[in-house]
Amino acid sequence: MSNSLLIRGASQIVTVAGRGPRRGKALADVGVLRDGAILLRDGAISAVGPVAKVEKLKESKSAELLDLDGCVVLPGFVDSHTHLIHAASRAEEYGLKIQGVSYEEIARRGGGILNSVSKLRATASQDLKARARHFLERFAEHGTTTIEAKSGYGLDLPSELRILSLHKELDSEQPLEIVSTFLGAHVVPAEYRNKPSGTRDYLKLLEQELIPEVAENGLAEYCDVFCERSAFSLAESRQVLAAGKKHGLRPRVHAEQLSNTGATRLGVQLGAASCDHLEYLKPADIRALAKSNTVATLLPGCDFHLGLKQYAPARKLIDAGAIVALATDFNPGTSPTLSMPMVISLACTQLRMTPAEAIAASTINSAYSLARHKTVGSLETGKQADIAVFEVADYREIPYYFGMNTCWLTLKRGEVIHMRD
Ligand code: NIG
Ligand code: FE
Repeated sequence: MSNSLLIRGASQIVTVAGRGPRRGKALADVGVLRDGAILLRDGAISAVGPVAKVEKLKESKSAELLDLDGCVVLPGFVDSHTHLIHAASRAEEYGLKIQGVSYEEIARRGGGILNSVSKLRATASQDLKARARHFLERFAEHGTTTIEAKSGYGLDLPSELRILSLHKELDSEQPLEIVSTFLGAHVVPAEYRNKPSGTRDYLKLLEQELIPEVAENGLAEYCDVFCERSAFSLAESRQVLAAGKKHGLRPRVHAEQLSNTGATRLGVQLGAASCDHLEYLKPADIRALAKSNTVATLLPGCDFHLGLKQYAPARKLIDAGAIVALATDFNPGTSPTLSMPMVISLACTQLRMTPAEAIAASTINSAYSLARHKTVGSLETGKQADIAVFEVADYREIPYYFGMNTCWLTLKRGEVIHMRD
């Protein structure tokens, strides 16, 4: 059997081809091919362009054929911010959120991240893994082919190493690509909270034991910190990110989610790959991001789930020239969704991004934030055949049909990882 596949018959192939990352007006320039075709060989794209041209290639003659009957083709989504490994939902907190109790108040009442930490510590690795596997299949069903995954619900050496080892195992045992981030600095764990030197002691543990151990064992590429009044201060965040950097882990930051802390400018200063959330950005933060290669990753699922009105200033970021990406922030506390189509709908209605901008932000720009832009994030010759096909006639219908999953087929490295019956 031929190992080549010729995909044709799509109403639109949104290639997102060209130089990445995308800033400003270029973000909307997604390259829609109407009578297009894609030729795949050995898990990679060997040609993409007008069908008349691609069909003429010698290899196309012997390729297997896939006719898409008017569907829309996109690069597989790159979800660059998730907390994949967690033990359980926090549905018990949902009623409080609906009544208007704040995220920080719920945490003070014993819920929040520490709730997830106790649950994870009490859960066997094989159960965490089974749960994650289930979700990875759901990611694929929604057109996602690469994700970033953060630790951060362990907060002690054995539990954090368990989470990061699961990232590694899952990356090699199932088709989705998983980029691993160490988030030991999610919050100060409960056992360190009752003494005055608790935070200092935990930071010391992170710097002297966890970060070196994680780096030595190649368990993460990135080091993240939750810089927030209820988590780590700016100075503490600097300490963690600098320690990560020293051990070869590039920074990512949870920044300005609930208040402005200065985390964005810290991230930019340290050459962070990405600053994420950004609801409480100041004009100077926007200018700093615009001048940098640090990606501004927006997570509108959080504001939607928490019922908050303060969405990140996406338009200002785009217009200033920052590299804007979108991600789900899939986690049990603030954003229990793994649907990039839903995030794109929210980006359109709440962040006022156009469907084209939102698609580029969810593919090439999020790939750039994970340093994967040379292999994934667009449909171009030589790149991995990571492809999502939607049962719609126009790419704008993907966010338009909000809360609906129109993804019909997903390919990772040319292999079918999801096909709706
Ligand atoms: O990205 N902000 C910090 N971390 C997560 C929420 C974690 C949780 O509440 O479990 C976030 O929103
Ligand atoms: Fe997060």
